[in-house]
Amino acid sequence: MASVRSSRKGWKTAATGLAALIVIALQAIGLGVGWPQEAAPLRIDEEFVKQEKIYRSQGADVPSGYVTNRGLSDYVGLLPSGFCDALSRLGSLDRWLDIGAGDGQAILDYYGGVDDAAPAENCARLGAKARAVAMSIEDRRTDKWRQLAVSLGDERIRYVSGKRLRQYSREELGKFQLITDVYGGFSYTEDLSQFLETVLSSLEIDGVFYTIVQNVHLEGGKDNPDTSYQTALMDAAGRDVKVCSWLKKTTCVKVVCESKRDWDSPSELINIRKVCSDVSVPRMKLLQFQAGNPPGRRFQLEP
Ligand SMILES: C[S@@+](CC[C@H](N)C(=O)[O-])C[C@H]1O[C@@H](n2cnc3c(N)ncnc32)[C@H](O)[C@@H]1O
Repeated sequence: MASVRSSRKGWKTAATGLAALIVIALQAIGLGVGWPQEAAPLRIDEEFVKQEKIYRSQGADVPSGYVTNRGLSDYVGLLPSGFCDALSRLGSLDRWLDIGAGDGQAILDYYGGVDDAAPAENCARLGAKARAVAMSIEDRRTDKWRQLAVSLGDERIRYVSGKRLRQYSREELGKFQLITDVYGGFSYTEDLSQFLETVLSSLEIDGVFYTIVQNVHLEGGKDNPDTSYQTALMDAAGRDVKVCSWLKKTTCVKVVCESKRDWDSPSELINIRKVCSDVSVPRMKLLQFQAGNPPGRRFQLEP
């Protein structure tokens, strides 16, 4: 009897071990909790092609979720609480980079809205505005942008497009006191560590990066476990890693996350201040990518 019990116990232990292995294996190929269950693993190269089509879409072909015209007041509502103050403190020699600017509406509002909105709404000081650079993969400049660019000149507002942030050299971009990203590169890139490295190398010491990322594991585990995670990180053993925990492992930065669990999509509003120059971002590799607005991504920290 004792031997039957112990063999049952052994079988149970083996079955539990096997189940744990299956969970780790499923997580490793991207079929973990919250990731869409595909019959076959997605082909990353095919997903990249689909994503490129979203970027290049024009007119009626632009998917409804791919919003490119958020104004400055939307940025104030979506970015961490100190953003508007930080923008209003910039002087005329300071520089602001908006990564993933789409139409560049936030910069247009900053420069053009002073007459129609209170300074608290457009985050601008009368007479002193920072030099602003809008960056987008695809060129979405509007007539309004072109008119303002002609009247202000390239020195004040500039629109750069045709490539991704990581493809610019330091000399091309220069350095910035403030960098923003509202559902831009941080939410769309297939190389998150390289993206962050480029952001931080483009920031002056004491400069701040403000961004937001939706449908992620929130700091302190405050999110609903039924969430369909769009950006998921894991360590080398396949355990979930929160985006803010990963960011906090970067050297020479001070990271503050404001978790919004009551929003439709659990989101982290992220503020990263660069405090010294010896920045090192823990590397991650891309495991899965599913085209979308924004895309679904799974990354794994390199050991
Ligand atoms: C959904 S739109 C957001 C536009 C704008 N921020 C808004 O809220 O209306 C995404 C933008 O991010 C840009 N983008 C995505 N990945 C990028 C990257 N790695 N580098 C630069 N821009 C990127 C796209 O080209 C596009 O301009």
